[in-house]
Amino acid sequence: MEIQKSDIREVHILVVDDESSIRELLQEYLSLEGYKVDIAKDGNDAFEYLRKFYYDIVLTDLEMPGMNGIELLKKANTQGLNHKFIILTGFGTVETAIMALKLGAVDYILKPFKLEELGLIIKKAIQRRRLEEENIQLKEALSLYQISEAMVLNNNVRTVIELILEKAMNELDADIVLISLKETISSPRITRLLRSSINVTADDLEAFFDKEKIFKLLETERYLLLNGDQISSVRKSEASGIDIKSYLSVAIGLMNRFYGAFCAFRIKKDMPFTDAHRKLSTIFAERITSLLEVKRSDEGLQLAMIESIESLVKALEAKEPYTKGHSERVSVYAHVLAEKMHLDTKAVLNITQAGRLHDIGKIAIRYDSLTKKEGLTKEEYEQFKLHPVVGANILKPMSFLSDIIPLILYHHERYDGKGYPEGVKGENIPLGARILAICDSFDVMTSERPYRTALAKEQVISELTGNSGTQFDPGLVQSMLLLLEEGQIPTKDGLEI
Ligand SMILES: [Fe+2]
Repeated sequence: MEIQKSDIREVHILVVDDESSIRELLQEYLSLEGYKVDIAKDGNDAFEYLRKFYYDIVLTDLEMPGMNGIELLKKANTQGLNHKFIILTGFGTVETAIMALKLGAVDYILKPFKLEELGLIIKKAIQRRRLEEENIQLKEALSLYQISEAMVLNNNVRTVIELILEKAMNELDADIVLISLKETISSPRITRLLRSSINVTADDLEAFFDKEKIFKLLETERYLLLNGDQISSVRKSEASGIDIKSYLSVAIGLMNRFYGAFCAFRIKKDMPFTDAHRKLSTIFAERITSLLEVKRSDEGLQLAMIESIESLVKALEAKEPYTKGHSERVSVYAHVLAEKMHLDTKAVLNITQAGRLHDIGKIAIRYDSLTKKEGLTKEEYEQFKLHPVVGANILKPMSFLSDIIPLILYHHERYDGKGYPEGVKGENIPLGARILAICDSFDVMTSERPYRTALAKEQVISELTGNSGTQFDPGLVQSMLLLLEEGQIPTKDGLEI
Protein backbone atom coordinates (compact mmCIF):
# COMPACT_ATOMS: atom_id res chain seq x y z
CA MET A 1 0.00 0.00 0.00
CA GLU A 2 1.28 3.41 -0.88
CA ILE A 3 2.03 5.62 2.09
CA GLN A 4 -0.14 8.69 2.11
CA LYS A 5 1.57 11.97 2.98
CA SER A 6 -0.90 12.44 5.82
CA ASP A 7 0.41 9.25 7.47
CA ILE A 8 3.71 10.94 8.16
CA ARG A 9 3.58 13.22 11.18
CA GLU A 10 3.80 16.80 10.03
CA VAL A 11 6.68 18.83 11.44
CA HIS A 12 5.44 22.11 12.86
CA ILE A 13 7.80 25.13 12.86
CA LEU A 14 7.35 28.62 14.30
CA VAL A 15 9.43 31.39 12.70
CA VAL A 16 9.97 34.48 14.88
CA ASP A 17 11.58 37.55 13.34
CA ASP A 18 10.80 41.26 13.45
CA GLU A 19 11.85 41.72 9.81
CA SER A 20 8.92 40.80 7.62
CA SER A 21 11.10 40.02 4.56
CA ILE A 22 13.05 37.35 6.50
CA ARG A 23 9.86 35.94 8.03
CA GLU A 24 8.18 35.57 4.68
CA LEU A 25 11.26 34.16 2.97
CA LEU A 26 11.65 31.53 5.67
CA GLN A 27 7.96 30.69 5.61
CA GLU A 28 8.00 30.17 1.87
CA TYR A 29 11.18 28.11 1.85
CA LEU A 30 10.21 25.89 4.79
CA SER A 31 6.69 25.34 3.45
CA LEU A 32 8.21 24.19 0.15
CA GLU A 33 10.36 21.76 2.16
CA GLY A 34 7.12 20.24 3.47
CA TYR A 35 6.94 21.77 6.95
CA LYS A 36 3.89 23.38 8.48
CA VAL A 37 4.97 26.94 9.29
CA ASP A 38 3.57 29.74 11.47
CA ILE A 39 5.13 33.16 11.73
CA ALA A 40 5.37 35.63 14.61
CA LYS A 41 6.69 39.17 14.54
CA ASP A 42 8.21 39.31 18.03
CA GLY A 43 8.59 37.47 21.33
CA ASN A 44 5.15 38.39 22.68
CA ASP A 45 3.42 37.33 19.49
CA ALA A 46 5.44 34.07 19.47
CA PHE A 47 4.61 33.30 23.07
CA GLU A 48 0.89 33.32 22.28
CA TYR A 49 1.53 30.70 19.57
CA LEU A 50 3.68 28.62 21.93
CA ARG A 51 0.92 28.52 24.49
CA LYS A 52 -1.63 27.32 21.97
CA PHE A 53 0.30 24.95 19.73
CA TYR A 54 3.04 22.41 19.94
CA TYR A 55 6.07 23.18 17.73
CA ASP A 56 8.86 20.77 16.87
CA ILE A 57 11.13 23.72 16.14
CA VAL A 58 11.06 27.39 17.07
CA LEU A 59 13.31 29.39 14.77
CA THR A 60 13.87 32.74 16.42
CA ASP A 61 15.81 35.92 15.91
CA LEU A 62 17.61 37.26 18.99
CA GLU A 63 17.19 40.99 18.77
CA MET A 64 13.59 42.04 18.52
CA PRO A 65 11.59 44.87 20.02
CA GLY A 66 9.38 43.99 23.02
CA MET A 67 10.33 40.51 24.07
CA ASN A 68 13.63 39.37 22.55
CA GLY A 69 14.69 35.81 21.66
CA ILE A 70 16.42 35.07 24.99
CA GLU A 71 13.45 36.36 26.97
CA LEU A 72 11.12 34.24 24.86
CA LEU A 73 13.24 31.14 25.51
CA LYS A 74 13.33 31.85 29.25
CA LYS A 75 9.60 32.44 29.41
CA ALA A 76 8.87 29.23 27.51
CA ASN A 77 11.15 27.40 29.96
CA THR A 78 9.46 28.77 33.06
CA GLN A 79 6.07 27.81 31.67
CA GLY A 80 7.29 24.29 31.03
CA LEU A 81 6.84 24.61 27.26
CA ASN A 82 9.20 22.11 25.75
CA HIS A 83 10.00 23.38 22.27
CA LYS A 84 13.31 23.05 20.47
CA PHE A 85 14.77 26.49 19.78
CA ILE A 86 17.13 27.32 16.93
CA ILE A 87 18.60 30.81 17.19
CA LEU A 88 19.17 33.13 14.24
CA THR A 89 22.02 35.46 15.12
CA GLY A 90 24.38 38.06 13.69
CA PHE A 91 28.13 38.07 14.41
CA GLY A 92 27.68 40.68 17.11
CA THR A 93 25.36 38.48 19.14
CA VAL A 94 27.22 35.15 19.08
CA GLU A 95 27.84 35.45 22.84
CA THR A 96 24.09 35.77 23.38
CA ALA A 97 23.49 32.77 21.11
CA ILE A 98 25.83 30.72 23.31
CA MET A 99 23.84 31.82 26.32
CA ALA A 100 20.72 30.63 24.51
CA LEU A 101 22.35 27.20 24.04
CA LYS A 102 22.98 27.08 27.78
CA LEU A 103 19.28 27.77 28.31
CA GLY A 104 18.39 24.75 26.23
CA ALA A 105 18.36 25.97 22.60
CA VAL A 106 19.50 23.14 20.30
CA ASP A 107 21.54 25.11 17.74
CA TYR A 108 22.23 28.51 16.24
CA ILE A 109 22.86 29.82 12.73
CA LEU A 110 24.78 32.95 11.79
CA LYS A 111 23.18 35.58 9.59
CA PRO A 112 23.49 35.89 6.66
CA PHE A 113 22.93 32.20 5.93
CA LYS A 114 22.20 30.04 2.93
CA LEU A 115 18.73 28.51 2.96
CA GLU A 116 20.16 25.01 2.28
CA GLU A 117 22.36 25.41 5.32
CA LEU A 118 19.35 26.31 7.44
CA GLY A 119 17.45 23.33 5.96
CA LEU A 120 20.24 20.99 7.10
CA ILE A 121 20.31 22.41 10.63
CA ILE A 122 16.55 21.97 10.91
CA LYS A 123 16.72 18.38 9.64
CA LYS A 124 19.49 17.63 12.14
CA ALA A 125 17.45 19.13 15.00
CA ILE A 126 14.34 17.13 14.04
CA GLN A 127 16.34 13.94 13.82
CA ARG A 128 17.89 14.60 17.20
CA ARG A 129 14.50 15.31 18.70
CA ARG A 130 13.07 12.04 17.33
CA LEU A 131 16.04 10.08 18.62
CA GLU A 132 15.69 11.74 22.00
CA GLU A 133 11.99 10.92 22.10
CA GLU A 134 12.66 7.29 21.19
CA ASN A 135 15.44 7.07 23.76
CA ILE A 136 13.26 8.58 26.42
CA GLN A 137 10.45 6.17 25.60
CA LEU A 138 12.84 3.20 25.70
CA LYS A 139 14.40 4.30 28.97
CA GLU A 140 11.01 4.94 30.52
CA ALA A 141 9.73 1.59 29.33
CA LEU A 142 12.76 -0.15 30.86
CA SER A 143 12.36 1.63 34.19
CA LEU A 144 8.66 0.84 34.33
CA TYR A 145 9.37 -2.78 33.45
CA GLN A 146 11.94 -3.01 36.27
CA ILE A 147 9.43 -1.51 38.69
CA SER A 148 6.72 -3.98 37.65
CA GLU A 149 9.17 -6.85 38.02
CA ALA A 150 10.15 -5.69 41.52
CA MET A 151 6.46 -5.40 42.45
CA VAL A 152 5.93 -9.04 41.53
CA LEU A 153 9.14 -10.45 42.99
CA ASN A 154 9.63 -8.35 46.10
CA ASN A 155 7.03 -8.28 48.84
CA ASN A 156 8.75 -5.57 50.82
CA VAL A 157 6.77 -2.43 50.01
CA ARG A 158 9.45 -0.07 51.26
CA THR A 159 12.13 -1.62 49.02
CA VAL A 160 9.92 -1.32 45.94
CA ILE A 161 9.00 2.30 46.74
CA GLU A 162 12.69 3.08 47.14
CA LEU A 163 13.32 1.58 43.69
CA ILE A 164 10.51 3.70 42.23
CA LEU A 165 12.08 6.82 43.72
CA GLU A 166 15.48 5.88 42.29
CA LYS A 167 14.02 5.41 38.80
CA ALA A 168 11.91 8.57 39.10
CA MET A 169 14.97 10.57 40.06
CA ASN A 170 16.72 9.51 36.83
CA GLU A 171 13.77 9.66 34.48
CA LEU A 172 12.61 13.06 35.67
CA ASP A 173 16.15 14.38 35.93
CA ALA A 174 15.17 15.79 39.32
CA ASP A 175 17.32 17.04 42.19
CA ILE A 176 14.94 15.57 44.76
CA VAL A 177 12.04 13.13 44.63
CA LEU A 178 9.93 12.20 47.60
CA ILE A 179 6.69 10.64 48.70
CA SER A 180 4.74 12.11 51.55
CA LEU A 181 1.76 10.15 52.82
CA LYS A 182 -1.27 11.40 54.66
CA GLU A 183 -2.33 8.08 56.05
CA THR A 184 0.19 6.18 58.12
CA ILE A 185 0.91 2.84 56.57
CA SER A 186 2.05 0.45 59.27
CA SER A 187 4.91 -2.09 59.36
CA PRO A 188 7.12 -0.65 58.06
CA ARG A 189 5.69 2.79 58.68
CA ILE A 190 6.09 4.88 55.56
CA THR A 191 5.04 8.46 55.89
CA ARG A 192 7.93 10.11 54.13
CA LEU A 193 10.62 8.75 51.84
CA LEU A 194 13.09 11.03 50.12
CA ARG A 195 15.86 10.70 47.59
CA SER A 196 18.06 13.75 47.15
CA SER A 197 21.21 14.57 45.23
CA ILE A 198 21.66 17.91 46.96
CA ASN A 199 21.91 19.21 50.48
CA VAL A 200 18.19 19.73 51.13
CA THR A 201 16.38 17.43 53.57
CA ALA A 202 12.76 16.34 53.90
CA ASP A 203 12.52 18.57 57.00
CA ASP A 204 13.72 21.59 54.98
CA LEU A 205 11.01 20.92 52.40
CA GLU A 206 8.36 20.38 55.06
CA ALA A 207 9.27 23.72 56.61
CA PHE A 208 9.05 25.38 53.20
CA PHE A 209 5.80 23.99 51.79
CA ASP A 210 2.24 24.32 53.00
CA LYS A 211 1.62 20.58 53.02
CA GLU A 212 -2.03 20.80 54.00
CA LYS A 213 -2.78 23.16 51.14
CA ILE A 214 -0.94 20.91 48.67
CA PHE A 215 -2.82 17.81 49.84
CA LYS A 216 -6.11 19.66 49.57
CA LEU A 217 -5.32 20.83 46.03
CA LEU A 218 -4.12 17.38 44.96
CA GLU A 219 -7.27 15.69 46.23
CA THR A 220 -9.24 17.53 43.58
CA GLU A 221 -6.68 18.63 40.95
CA ARG A 222 -4.66 15.35 41.04
CA TYR A 223 -1.45 17.16 40.05
CA LEU A 224 0.45 20.44 40.41
CA LEU A 225 3.13 21.66 38.04
CA LEU A 226 4.57 24.96 39.21
CA ASN A 227 7.60 26.89 38.01
CA GLY A 228 9.51 29.87 39.37
CA ASP A 229 7.28 32.43 41.05
CA GLN A 230 4.19 30.18 40.80
CA ILE A 231 5.70 28.05 43.60
CA SER A 232 4.99 30.79 46.13
CA SER A 233 1.29 29.82 45.94
CA VAL A 234 2.00 26.60 47.89
CA ARG A 235 4.80 27.98 50.07
CA LYS A 236 4.35 28.74 53.76
CA SER A 237 4.14 32.51 54.03
CA GLU A 238 7.05 32.77 56.46
CA ALA A 239 9.22 30.20 54.62
CA SER A 240 12.35 31.16 52.74
CA GLY A 241 15.77 29.80 51.93
CA ILE A 242 15.18 27.27 49.15
CA ASP A 243 15.20 28.51 45.57
CA ILE A 244 13.05 25.92 43.81
CA LYS A 245 13.05 26.28 40.02
CA SER A 246 10.39 23.72 39.24
CA TYR A 247 7.95 21.71 41.36
CA LEU A 248 5.88 18.75 40.26
CA SER A 249 3.46 16.94 42.51
CA VAL A 250 1.05 14.09 41.73
CA ALA A 251 -1.62 12.54 43.97
CA ILE A 252 -1.06 9.04 45.33
CA GLY A 253 -4.27 7.14 45.95
CA LEU A 254 -7.62 6.56 44.35
CA MET A 255 -10.33 9.13 43.73
CA ASN A 256 -12.11 8.24 46.96
CA ARG A 257 -8.99 7.34 48.94
CA PHE A 258 -6.26 9.96 48.99
CA TYR A 259 -2.98 8.73 50.47
CA GLY A 260 -0.60 11.61 49.77
CA ALA A 261 1.78 12.99 47.18
CA PHE A 262 4.63 12.02 44.92
CA CYS A 263 6.79 15.11 44.42
CA ALA A 264 9.78 16.04 42.27
CA PHE A 265 11.93 19.15 42.61
CA ARG A 266 14.45 20.94 40.43
CA ILE A 267 16.55 23.21 42.57
CA LYS A 268 20.00 23.26 40.99
CA LYS A 269 18.77 22.42 37.51
CA ASP A 270 17.34 25.39 35.63
CA MET A 271 14.99 23.71 33.14
CA PRO A 272 11.38 23.31 34.27
CA PHE A 273 9.51 20.01 34.34
CA THR A 274 7.29 19.46 31.33
CA ASP A 275 3.92 17.87 30.76
CA ALA A 276 5.72 14.68 29.68
CA HIS A 277 7.34 14.56 33.14
CA ARG A 278 3.91 15.04 34.68
CA LYS A 279 2.52 12.09 32.73
CA LEU A 280 5.43 9.88 33.73
CA SER A 281 5.04 10.93 37.38
CA THR A 282 1.40 9.90 37.23
CA ILE A 283 2.55 6.39 36.27
CA PHE A 284 5.01 6.34 39.20
CA ALA A 285 2.24 7.53 41.54
CA GLU A 286 -0.12 4.83 40.22
CA ARG A 287 2.47 2.14 40.95
CA ILE A 288 2.89 3.43 44.49
CA THR A 289 -0.90 3.47 44.90
CA SER A 290 -1.19 -0.18 43.83
CA LEU A 291 1.53 -1.16 46.30
CA LEU A 292 -0.23 0.60 49.14
CA GLU A 293 -3.59 -0.86 48.15
CA VAL A 294 -2.19 -4.40 48.13
CA LYS A 295 -0.54 -3.75 51.48
CA ARG A 296 -3.77 -2.39 52.86
CA SER A 297 -5.80 -5.44 51.88
CA ASP A 298 -3.00 -7.80 53.03
CA GLU A 299 -2.90 -6.12 56.40
CA GLY A 300 -6.67 -6.26 56.71
CA LEU A 301 -6.56 -9.99 56.01
CA GLN A 302 -3.67 -10.59 58.42
CA LEU A 303 -5.43 -8.67 61.16
CA ALA A 304 -8.59 -10.73 60.66
CA MET A 305 -6.58 -13.97 60.89
CA ILE A 306 -4.76 -12.90 64.07
CA GLU A 307 -7.99 -11.75 65.67
CA SER A 308 -9.70 -15.07 65.00
CA ILE A 309 -6.76 -17.00 66.52
CA GLU A 310 -6.79 -14.68 69.53
CA SER A 311 -10.49 -15.27 70.03
CA LEU A 312 -9.82 -19.04 70.02
CA VAL A 313 -7.29 -18.58 72.83
CA LYS A 314 -9.70 -16.36 74.75
CA ALA A 315 -12.52 -18.87 74.36
CA LEU A 316 -10.29 -21.68 75.62
CA GLU A 317 -9.17 -19.68 78.66
CA ALA A 318 -12.64 -18.36 79.45
CA LYS A 319 -13.80 -21.88 80.35
CA GLU A 320 -12.11 -21.57 83.75
CA PRO A 321 -12.09 -18.54 86.02
CA TYR A 322 -8.41 -18.96 86.91
CA THR A 323 -7.19 -19.05 83.31
CA LYS A 324 -9.62 -16.42 82.02
CA GLY A 325 -7.67 -13.54 80.49
CA HIS A 326 -4.29 -15.22 81.17
CA SER A 327 -2.78 -14.60 77.70
CA GLU A 328 -4.05 -11.03 77.58
CA ARG A 329 -2.41 -10.31 80.96
CA VAL A 330 0.85 -12.01 79.93
CA SER A 331 0.79 -9.82 76.85
CA VAL A 332 0.34 -6.65 78.92
CA TYR A 333 3.15 -7.59 81.36
CA ALA A 334 5.43 -8.56 78.46
CA HIS A 335 4.77 -5.22 76.79
CA VAL A 336 5.76 -3.30 79.93
CA LEU A 337 8.88 -5.42 80.49
CA ALA A 338 9.98 -5.22 76.83
CA GLU A 339 9.71 -1.43 76.98
CA LYS A 340 11.66 -1.40 80.25
CA MET A 341 14.41 -3.29 78.38
CA HIS A 342 14.44 -0.47 75.77
CA LEU A 343 13.67 -2.78 72.84
CA ASP A 344 12.73 -1.19 69.55
CA THR A 345 9.07 -0.62 68.62
CA LYS A 346 8.88 -3.62 66.31
CA ALA A 347 10.35 -6.01 68.90
CA VAL A 348 7.95 -4.68 71.57
CA LEU A 349 5.00 -5.21 69.18
CA ASN A 350 6.13 -8.75 68.37
CA ILE A 351 6.50 -9.69 72.05
CA THR A 352 3.10 -8.20 72.88
CA GLN A 353 1.52 -10.14 70.03
CA ALA A 354 3.32 -13.35 71.01
CA GLY A 355 1.96 -12.88 74.56
CA ARG A 356 -1.60 -13.07 73.29
CA LEU A 357 -0.92 -16.18 71.24
CA HIS A 358 1.68 -18.02 73.34
CA ASP A 359 -0.62 -20.79 74.58
CA ILE A 360 -2.50 -21.41 71.32
CA GLY A 361 -0.99 -24.93 71.25
CA LYS A 362 -3.15 -25.84 74.28
CA ILE A 363 -6.15 -26.27 71.98
CA ALA A 364 -4.57 -29.64 71.10
CA ILE A 365 -4.36 -30.76 74.78
CA ARG A 366 -7.26 -32.68 76.31
CA TYR A 367 -9.46 -30.22 78.12
CA ASP A 368 -9.87 -32.33 81.27
CA SER A 369 -6.12 -32.47 81.85
CA LEU A 370 -5.87 -28.68 81.60
CA THR A 371 -8.44 -28.23 84.35
CA LYS A 372 -7.46 -31.03 86.72
CA LYS A 373 -7.31 -30.10 90.36
CA GLU A 374 -4.92 -32.90 91.26
CA GLY A 375 -1.50 -33.04 89.54
CA LEU A 376 -1.07 -34.36 86.02
CA THR A 377 0.03 -37.94 85.37
CA LYS A 378 3.43 -38.41 83.71
CA GLU A 379 1.79 -39.06 80.32
CA GLU A 380 -0.48 -36.06 80.67
CA TYR A 381 2.47 -33.87 81.57
CA GLU A 382 4.46 -35.13 78.53
CA GLN A 383 1.49 -34.28 76.33
CA PHE A 384 1.10 -30.87 77.97
CA LYS A 385 4.79 -30.11 77.26
CA LEU A 386 4.09 -30.38 73.54
CA HIS A 387 1.92 -27.21 73.47
CA PRO A 388 4.73 -24.79 72.45
CA VAL A 389 5.60 -27.02 69.46
CA VAL A 390 1.96 -27.46 68.52
CA GLY A 391 1.42 -23.69 68.79
CA ALA A 392 4.43 -22.96 66.57
CA ASN A 393 3.15 -25.48 64.00
CA ILE A 394 -0.33 -23.96 63.97
CA LEU A 395 1.10 -20.53 63.16
CA LYS A 396 3.81 -21.69 60.74
CA PRO A 397 1.74 -21.31 57.53
CA MET A 398 1.25 -17.61 58.32
CA SER A 399 4.50 -16.18 57.05
CA PHE A 400 3.69 -12.71 58.42
CA LEU A 401 4.00 -14.20 61.93
CA SER A 402 7.49 -15.60 61.30
CA ASP A 403 9.10 -13.25 63.85
CA ILE A 404 6.85 -14.29 66.70
CA ILE A 405 6.80 -18.07 66.13
CA PRO A 406 10.20 -18.62 67.88
CA LEU A 407 8.91 -16.73 70.93
CA ILE A 408 5.97 -19.12 71.17
CA LEU A 409 8.13 -22.18 70.58
CA TYR A 410 10.58 -21.27 73.36
CA HIS A 411 8.32 -19.71 76.01
CA HIS A 412 8.81 -22.70 78.36
CA GLU A 413 12.59 -22.85 78.06
CA ARG A 414 14.54 -22.15 81.26
CA TYR A 415 17.63 -20.00 81.62
CA ASP A 416 19.57 -23.01 83.02
CA GLY A 417 18.66 -25.14 79.99
CA LYS A 418 16.29 -27.44 81.90
CA GLY A 419 13.14 -26.26 80.13
CA TYR A 420 11.25 -27.64 77.15
CA PRO A 421 10.80 -28.39 74.23
CA GLU A 422 14.52 -28.20 73.27
CA GLY A 423 16.40 -27.42 76.51
CA VAL A 424 17.96 -24.29 75.00
CA LYS A 425 20.05 -22.32 77.51
CA GLY A 426 20.70 -18.71 78.58
CA GLU A 427 21.15 -16.13 75.87
CA ASN A 428 20.49 -18.78 73.22
CA ILE A 429 16.82 -18.52 74.12
CA PRO A 430 15.34 -15.58 72.14
CA LEU A 431 15.00 -12.54 74.44
CA GLY A 432 11.29 -12.27 73.61
CA ALA A 433 10.76 -15.87 74.76
CA ARG A 434 12.66 -15.18 78.01
CA ILE A 435 10.40 -12.17 78.59
CA LEU A 436 7.29 -14.29 77.95
CA ALA A 437 8.58 -17.03 80.31
CA ILE A 438 8.92 -14.67 83.26
CA CYS A 439 5.59 -12.90 82.53
CA ASP A 440 3.81 -16.24 82.07
CA SER A 441 5.05 -17.46 85.49
CA PHE A 442 4.31 -14.07 87.04
CA ASP A 443 0.66 -14.34 85.98
CA VAL A 444 0.43 -17.92 87.27
CA MET A 445 1.88 -16.80 90.63
CA THR A 446 -0.55 -13.92 90.93
CA SER A 447 -3.67 -15.87 89.89
CA GLU A 448 -5.83 -18.21 91.88
CA ARG A 449 -5.26 -21.82 90.78
CA PRO A 450 -7.35 -24.94 91.46
CA TYR A 451 -4.57 -26.22 93.72
CA ARG A 452 -3.60 -22.96 95.55
CA THR A 453 -4.46 -19.31 96.14
CA ALA A 454 -2.65 -16.37 94.53
CA LEU A 455 0.70 -15.50 96.05
CA ALA A 456 1.21 -12.29 98.03
CA LYS A 457 3.59 -9.64 96.71
CA GLU A 458 6.45 -10.74 99.05
CA GLN A 459 6.06 -14.34 97.92
CA VAL A 460 6.12 -13.25 94.26
CA ILE A 461 9.32 -11.30 94.86
CA SER A 462 10.93 -14.23 96.64
CA GLU A 463 9.85 -16.67 93.86
CA LEU A 464 11.35 -14.40 91.19
CA THR A 465 14.56 -13.86 93.16
CA GLY A 466 14.86 -17.53 94.10
CA ASN A 467 14.58 -18.66 90.49
CA SER A 468 16.80 -15.94 89.02
CA GLY A 469 19.53 -17.49 86.87
CA THR A 470 17.90 -20.94 87.02
CA GLN A 471 14.36 -20.61 85.63
CA PHE A 472 14.54 -16.91 84.70
CA ASP A 473 17.01 -14.59 82.99
CA PRO A 474 18.62 -12.72 85.93
CA GLY A 475 18.65 -9.40 84.04
CA LEU A 476 14.92 -9.68 83.42
CA VAL A 477 14.26 -10.59 87.07
CA GLN A 478 16.05 -7.37 88.09
CA SER A 479 13.90 -5.31 85.72
CA MET A 480 10.71 -7.08 86.80
CA LEU A 481 11.50 -6.37 90.48
CA LEU A 482 12.16 -2.73 89.63
CA LEU A 483 8.85 -2.48 87.78
CA LEU A 484 7.06 -4.00 90.78
CA GLU A 485 8.76 -1.57 93.13
CA GLU A 486 7.81 1.37 90.92
CA GLY A 487 4.23 0.10 90.67
CA GLN A 488 4.55 -0.11 86.90
CA ILE A 489 2.94 -3.52 86.47
CA PRO A 490 -0.76 -2.98 85.73
CA THR A 491 -2.84 -4.18 88.68
CA LYS A 492 -5.17 -7.07 88.15
CA ASP A 493 -8.71 -6.65 89.50
CA GLY A 494 -8.88 -7.43 93.22
CA LEU A 495 -5.22 -8.26 93.46
CA GLU A 496 -2.47 -6.23 94.98
CA ILE A 497 0.73 -6.56 93.03
FE1 LIG B 1 2.52 -22.07 77.99
